[in-house]
Amino acid sequence: TEHDHPDHPRFDFVVVANRLPVDRVVDGDGNASWRTSPGGLVTALEPVMRETEGAWIGWPGGTVNDIEPFDYNGTWIEPMPLSAQEVEEYYEGFSNDTLWPLYHDVIAPPSYHREWWDSYRTVNQRFAERAAQLAAHGATVWVHDYQLQLVPGILREMRPDVTIGFFNHIPFPAYGIYSQLPWRTQIIRGLLGADVIGFQRAADAGNFQRAVRRLLSYEASGTTITVPTDEDGKVTSGSRNTKRPSGPTRTVVARHYPISIDALAYERLAREPRVQERAAQIRSELGNPRTIMLGVDRLDYTKGIRHRLKAYGELLAEGRLQIEDVSLIQVASPSRERVETYKQLRDEIELTVGRINGDFGTIGHSAISYLHHGYPREEMVALFLAADIVLVTALRDGMNLVAKEYAAVRYDNDGVLVLSEFAGAADELKRALLVNPHDIEGLKDTIMTAVEMPRAERSRRMRAMRKRVMEHDVAVWSRSFLRELSPYQLSRGGTDLL
Ligand code: G6P
Repeated sequence: TEHDHPDHPRFDFVVVANRLPVDRVVDGDGNASWRTSPGGLVTALEPVMRETEGAWIGWPGGTVNDIEPFDYNGTWIEPMPLSAQEVEEYYEGFSNDTLWPLYHDVIAPPSYHREWWDSYRTVNQRFAERAAQLAAHGATVWVHDYQLQLVPGILREMRPDVTIGFFNHIPFPAYGIYSQLPWRTQIIRGLLGADVIGFQRAADAGNFQRAVRRLLSYEASGTTITVPTDEDGKVTSGSRNTKRPSGPTRTVVARHYPISIDALAYERLAREPRVQERAAQIRSELGNPRTIMLGVDRLDYTKGIRHRLKAYGELLAEGRLQIEDVSLIQVASPSRERVETYKQLRDEIELTVGRINGDFGTIGHSAISYLHHGYPREEMVALFLAADIVLVTALRDGMNLVAKEYAAVRYDNDGVLVLSEFAGAADELKRALLVNPHDIEGLKDTIMTAVEMPRAERSRRMRAMRKRVMEHDVAVWSRSFLRELSPYQLSRGGTDLL
């Protein structure tokens, strides 16, 4: 870390993400304190942050705008305030009601509003300016996710000396869908300010490259894109969009780096006696049914919760499942609750849960335990240990870490994972029972296959999935991404982080 002025610390490594790695908690007396967020990105970057004494720029949530930057276990926390209007237009609007549904294959219709776009640009500009202030000469800046796609382009203009990585945590859609976006060219140009653009799946990287070819006619082959620049290496905004540029160019890498989890930490928790006792308690409180199924999702329309409930309800109605033998736990953690599509989804799901419980439940057995809460990791691990089957039926999902968490937890090599082929995790967890969640009959048959699967086959499949997850954990992910940045760092005389 370079401290050239006490008020303006500078860092060799700067993370830019919509969310901070810490959550602000206010106690009964109104005192605020900070606690590590449960998210995967936080654990992924923790070792790098510690070694490099890096900084993290992000929104602290809410609209409190006078939070001073501070040090948190060796990470410099730089809170980026949002006004109430920006929360509405940049976060709830453009990020979560335009880009989110568009990038998830328009499962819900995206809304296009020019005011939201203006707010998105303003907020991205502010994030980029802050990153430019905090980055030391030759630093590395790692920008995350769909909320901040303009940051690489803006930052590249301000700071040609820094190395910029961007990782997209959600899918990148096919061009036929992406091309709906009125600001499709600006977003692509924004991303191309990065040196390395990471995606979850090979298909996402391919979709991005096709968008670049269609919109800008740049050459993209293999994992590299050739971007014409002006003399100082900045992105040209002009029309010199030729396939074989005669002037200076820079090379951008666009490829997949599937994200993962801190797998060993999950396994360790699963081995704790108190967690196992809690799992046994969960089973017995449900009346020790033969089969416990579990769904764990943010309450989001991309997760296919309705499809899952439909299949489950029909299996009960047709008598293929008996209420005494089975129980479904559905954890649906509250998310983006002020966005209309999410409100509607919650109503629909709660209506369906009520109907299924009313139609099939008895005094002693309810069909679904529906929990509209978030839980600490330890409770989640106990749930995974208690579950014979985990249902991941996303209609579209960048990766889906629940699938990987289940595999990490089941060191007993038991349990069946039903996994949507539309989740990024399906590219890696090939021994899950893969399903098309739109095909309700197919989903029902797959659930029955899971219910009836013999122990030996469960074990073979879980062993293969665990091997993948334990060997490709989140440390492997962040290292492979950062390794891709090192030639850029070297060519600029910057700091190699690894
Ligand atoms: C997804 C996105 C993240 C986001 C998270 C929670 O995983 O990729 O960027 O932080 O959902 O959503 P929220 O809107 O609460 O940040």
